[in-house]
Amino acid sequence: MQHSAAVWDHKAAMEVIKGSNGIDQVVLRNQQGSSVRVSLQGGQITSWQNGRGEELLFTSSKVKFKPPKPARGGIVICFPQFGNCGSLEQHGFARNKIWSIDENPPPLHPKDSLGQSFVDLLLQPSKEDLKCWPHSYELRLRVALSADGKLNLTSRVKNTIGKPFSFAFAYHSYLSVSDISEVRIEGMEILDYLDNLRQKERFTEQGDAITFESEVDRVYLKSPSTVAVLDHGKKRTCVIRKAGLDDVAVWNPWENKSKAMADLGAREYKQMVCVDAAAVEKPIRLKAGEEWTGQVEFINVASCFCSDAWLS
Ligand code: BG6
Repeated sequence: MQHSAAVWDHKAAMEVIKGSNGIDQVVLRNQQGSSVRVSLQGGQITSWQNGRGEELLFTSSKVKFKPPKPARGGIVICFPQFGNCGSLEQHGFARNKIWSIDENPPPLHPKDSLGQSFVDLLLQPSKEDLKCWPHSYELRLRVALSADGKLNLTSRVKNTIGKPFSFAFAYHSYLSVSDISEVRIEGMEILDYLDNLRQKERFTEQGDAITFESEVDRVYLKSPSTVAVLDHGKKRTCVIRKAGLDDVAVWNPWENKSKAMADLGAREYKQMVCVDAAAVEKPIRLKAGEEWTGQVEFINVASCFCSDAWLS
């Protein structure tokens, strides 16, 4: 597909294909050969590849494509709950629903439009859904791939008419790594975190970076807008920038939990780390007519770039 940046047509850069679970996926491509796939099942991002065709997101080799359950991997949209702390299913229902494509999405901001391909997916409650979560909302997920391969996800939740409601939100993001022992996460030093492995007790991070030697399941609170996931094995860094989302959840199931999970290989915990831009500790509250926006951007760079430059 040949396009010059000036005449880049986002519709031409978008294709709808059947996923292996039989559900439609939208594929976005840019001129460098990067691509992103998003499934209508859960609005889940199932792939993000750089211009060399390298996959940047982890998907389990034992993935089960059995809707309504989400696939183990990619980026999972967790709404209106994160974890299993409320009355709803773990991580909320959005990931278990079929979303629709908005054929007439609002235009991109002019400064974002050059070379950017994007699609908007929508989730609105059915009558059946209203029985378990009785709130009138619209959730719009914009998936955008920039000319230089950045993946940008913007979610807008609107209280369309009803009573005020509160929700939690997370982009549950499985990053593909060389080996978990080679990974460090920078940008969350001295932050407080809630430890899911110790009844959500609150601790303060002591290390100069987060590294992994056993199972980790934490929510870091009020984190800065940028964190960096350095992979010394692959010599690459994933810079994660977020807005409207205070927290960052970090998860690696390690050996015993991986063995117990039917859709994860026993040793695959080594090739993944979840780093999730999230709003968990303080739920978002919307009155009738109000709208919230939560955005995350993933930037894949060679590790020779100094991470300090991204974090400053
Ligand atoms: C993490 C949670 O975010 O997601 C973990 O903190 C959980 O406790 C993991 O095990 C995976 O959840 P699920 O429901 O997709 O298996």
